[in-house]
Amino acid sequence: MFGKRKVDILGQNTVNFSEIDKDIKVEIATLGSLDIFTNAHILGVVKYTTMICETLSLDAETSKSLILAAYLHDIGKIMIPPQVLQKPDRLTEDEYEIMKMHTTYGYDIVMRYENFRYLAPAVRGHHEKLDGSGYPDGLKGKDIPEEAKLIEIADIYDALTAKRQYKEGMSPSKAVGIMLDDVEKGKLGSKYLYYLLLNIVDQYEETIINDKREIDKLEEDIMTLRELDDIYKQIYDQGYTKKLENTLKRYNLPSGYDVTKNTSALIAKQNRMEHVKSEYKEYKLELSKLKKQLHQSRKKIKLIERNVKLYGKRVL
Ligand SMILES: [Fe+2]
Ligand SMILES: [Fe+2]
Repeated sequence: MFGKRKVDILGQNTVNFSEIDKDIKVEIATLGSLDIFTNAHILGVVKYTTMICETLSLDAETSKSLILAAYLHDIGKIMIPPQVLQKPDRLTEDEYEIMKMHTTYGYDIVMRYENFRYLAPAVRGHHEKLDGSGYPDGLKGKDIPEEAKLIEIADIYDALTAKRQYKEGMSPSKAVGIMLDDVEKGKLGSKYLYYLLLNIVDQYEETIINDKREIDKLEEDIMTLRELDDIYKQIYDQGYTKKLENTLKRYNLPSGYDVTKNTSALIAKQNRMEHVKSEYKEYKLELSKLKKQLHQSRKKIKLIERNVKLYGKRVL
């Protein structure tokens, strides 16, 4: 209903990994083996960045640059001592200062590769805040690279919603609520949040439609299985009468079909029904919250922001 403009992200726009410099791949792999949670986080940020590219209908080249920047955004973490990077408890102030350095380390690493230098500002700037309270450079508003602002939305959304061994993931609407608070405080822009939400809302709508279809089909199946159950009960009570035999024929049963199969099918379908119905209810509630937030974030997009360039191309 919000008119997502689909682009062929899985076709022409897919990042071709063979094109990625081998050394960078090795570094991504090193990052993965160093800290598996960071690795899952990177895949999450790549996913949400791709979703934003999709709703913005970005061309293949621009999408590829952003997705690559998403892969590399935390590459500087390979320079952070494991005792800080993998510390399960809250970081001390000193440790936090060390952790923050992953932005400049990442910048230095990416700058070493001529082909990827253009991604370095996005890597460096993905923790900057519009009001200048971010790091490493305390950049404000327009001085923050546009690409960094986009990656930042994907980064925060993943950090809040992802389920990790040490924490539960937040629901999308709870995470977006927190992000909208930061929009309100002037720390975050809302436009890429809006485009991410557009995609999330679409996915929720799709799931809800599929759930509804499945519920209808299950209802039909359960009804039939119950009817069959009744017939079997009557056969048990009255024996095989001509009438019951004819009724059974209507069901087009495979040979060897018996009452135990019928009962276990009925139980399986009822269990599935319970599961789909609860997901349907939960998703509907979540969708209504997300739609409100979508409108809220759209209202916050400033008119002045309607001349946005990503990697040299105008996107808004
Ligand atoms: Fe980061
Ligand atoms: Fe990150």
